[in-house]
Amino acid sequence: MSSILNIAIIGCGKHASDFHMPSFIRLKKKFNVIGVFDKKITRAKAFSKKHNIKKIYKSTNELLKDDKIDIVDVCSPPKFHFKQILESIIKNKDVMVEKPMVLKSLDLKKIIKINLKLKKKILCLQQQSFRDETFQLLNFMKNNKKGLGKLLKISSKANVRTPKQINNSFTDKNISGGGPLIDQGSHIIGLVANILKYPKIKNMNSSIFVRKPQKSKKLTFNIESAAILNVEFEKRKFFEFETSYSLKKSISEFSIKFFFKNGFISWPNLDYELIKGKKIRKIKKIKIKSFASDNQFSHFYKMIKYKNKPITSLKNSLYIVSLIEKCYQFSKTIKMK
Ligand SMILES: NC(=O)c1ccc[n+]([C@@H]2O[C@H](COP(=O)([O-])OP(=O)(O)OC[C@H]3O[C@@H](n4cnc5c(N)ncnc54)[C@H](O)[C@@H]3O)[C@@H](O)[C@H]2O)c1
Repeated sequence: MSSILNIAIIGCGKHASDFHMPSFIRLKKKFNVIGVFDKKITRAKAFSKKHNIKKIYKSTNELLKDDKIDIVDVCSPPKFHFKQILESIIKNKDVMVEKPMVLKSLDLKKIIKINLKLKKKILCLQQQSFRDETFQLLNFMKNNKKGLGKLLKISSKANVRTPKQINNSFTDKNISGGGPLIDQGSHIIGLVANILKYPKIKNMNSSIFVRKPQKSKKLTFNIESAAILNVEFEKRKFFEFETSYSLKKSISEFSIKFFFKNGFISWPNLDYELIKGKKIRKIKKIKIKSFASDNQFSHFYKMIKYKNKPITSLKNSLYIVSLIEKCYQFSKTIKMK
């Protein structure tokens, strides 16, 4: 295998174009995108023209037959991830897949079982875990372990604008698997679980807020508009999460606050207060050095080239997928007018 790994992208949407491609170009000594596939040929054509990619495959089958490809980068909507991951590993490709990894825990269990023999590298791109702010937060917690005291509660919010999308990737439940809970929840729950090292769950309850489904020429909206989740982890650590989609530009909150016995720290802005005796200190943060997407792709490169352990293993991904699945299964549904 040469030092540059060849990638084929499945799903030529907004995220692949705005985040994956610029990153692969910055990391051109590690990766080369040689081809793309999109269910809509017009999208594949526009994408390959914009990013100067030579090959457009007519089907995933044709793509997977190409021996030159080392890595399949799955950027299609969530519903298709399971089949596309499975077919790729069976055809001897390593796989990076966008969040949410799959819709059903049973599907991920199947992938894990089949991959026991195949031993392909598979990474769900939990981007928040690769942000510089996250590495700094982890360092801060490690270095201030004694000063901060016990972690008591985590409070988090992801109230964001309804994502821009192609063919209802985020707002048609049949394609997305759900609304902000699965979309934004994959980010926040994934990050909190990573920071707490995937703790056991003692109790949880959730509520989802739904409006009457809408269907017009342009938009299908049959997902929840908002959700609230409360979890009690082992050792009496409490986690609360609220999330919603709004049509207003102005509303955007995406943050986590970790409350300790002797202070708190917030993410991603990394403000903290540490109470020592009667003193309160407040310190502002750091400069961002690298892109989270570059960090995660470089991490995957090292998984393949140097057999580094994944930051998010398949077992970790199963934890995230299962938790979100349980939220949907057991949540109280509140109908809004
Ligand atoms: N990490 C992040 O911050 C982040 C942000 C946005 C999106 N995402 C994830 O990236 C993925 C794609 O999101 P997006 O914003 O690019 O969506 P999008 O709606 O912009 O694009 C989806 C693309 O997939 C294509 N497609 C649909 N079905 C397909 C199939 N069966 N096979 C191949 N292509 C198919 C569509 O034609 C479209 O071009 C989702 O899993 C989403 O959750 C991650």
